[in-house]
Amino acid sequence: MTTLNVAFLGAGSIAKDHLYAYKKDGRAKVTWLCDTNLERAGKLAQEYDIPNVTADYTEALQDPKLDFVDIMAPNFLHKPMAINAMNAGKAVLCEKPMALNAQESQDMVDEARSTGQRLFVKYHQRFDPVHALARKMLETGEFPKPVMALATLFGNHLPSMLNASHWRGVPSLTGGGCLFSSGSHIIDLLRFFFGDVQAITSVNRQLIANNPEKGDDNASVILEFKSGIIATFVGCWTTNTWSRSYKWWNEDRTMYIYQDETKANRLDVEEGNERKNLLVAPDWARQSHSIAISHFLDQMLKDALPYYPLEECVKSMKTLELAYKSSAEGCRILVD
Ligand SMILES: NC(=O)c1ccc[n+]([C@@H]2O[C@H](COP(=O)([O-])OP(=O)(O)OC[C@H]3O[C@@H](n4cnc5c(N)ncnc54)[C@H](O)[C@@H]3O)[C@@H](O)[C@H]2O)c1
Repeated sequence: MTTLNVAFLGAGSIAKDHLYAYKKDGRAKVTWLCDTNLERAGKLAQEYDIPNVTADYTEALQDPKLDFVDIMAPNFLHKPMAINAMNAGKAVLCEKPMALNAQESQDMVDEARSTGQRLFVKYHQRFDPVHALARKMLETGEFPKPVMALATLFGNHLPSMLNASHWRGVPSLTGGGCLFSSGSHIIDLLRFFFGDVQAITSVNRQLIANNPEKGDDNASVILEFKSGIIATFVGCWTTNTWSRSYKWWNEDRTMYIYQDETKANRLDVEEGNERKNLLVAPDWARQSHSIAISHFLDQMLKDALPYYPLEECVKSMKTLELAYKSSAEGCRILVD
């Protein structure tokens, strides 16, 4: 069996989920950990028996045995890292959000086309079995067209929003705060469920952190889809609990998607007085990272078609960018 060699560009909190995924799949071996925090990378390399550690990722790009890089550095580095890797003849798997804005994302796509290198942006939530079933039920009409939808995300990122040296929430490093980092998943997933957006109205503000170096810590976004569905996303980084949920409905039925206390993702449908569970995806976040990474390895090794085109990722970035514009300008924005 062919084994691919991968370099991690960034070895922070998400790296362990990726290490789990490569080990579970078995078709790729992590041969480099590249992180400016050498102490952190060194410890991880020792724990996972990874042969090479460097603070300068371009060193790994010179390794002729390296097949691809997995970008897990802060968002402002996604574009330069991806472009340097593709120019060095390496394929790229990149964490979400794709980059700082739609133009940077388009530049990455253009580079992939001109170098002929594979580029895949890992919006792993699209791969979760519950989310995939929900989309299928919408596509087939098994769940008839919803009228409205509500998505919520509550979390406690206040400590890192108050920490001046943490990149989280610094607009020049991440693109924005709660809406950009957490909302990027939700907006992408709402697009996965309901398609293209035609208008956006957003209010995203820093309500609690009181740190002028950082961006929004709370957000409320209304997305009007071309299909007529209206979805509202409420995101909050300043609670002391963690939860996420989606709910949509029509005159007869309501669909619920939510994470339970065991970290499983669940899909229920309610009709009349009866609410039925249709699917439970245990340990959904870690497992969907794994499914997404295996899908990328299928692209690399079996020429599998990407589950979604790169243009989808650029559109998600554009939607996010327009949400920020709506909030800054205090108006509803029409999408071209
Ligand atoms: N898909 C998801 O659900 C998910 C979850 C968490 C994070 N992410 C994404 O993964 C990325 C990293 O997030 P994280 O939470 O692991 O952050 P983190 O801060 O824990 O880790 C980032 C790492 O990048 C390193 N780094 C900084 N500059 C570097 C450079 N020039 N070269 C190499 N390494 C460098 C840092 O030292 C740090 O160890 C972000 O883009 C984030 O949006 C995605």
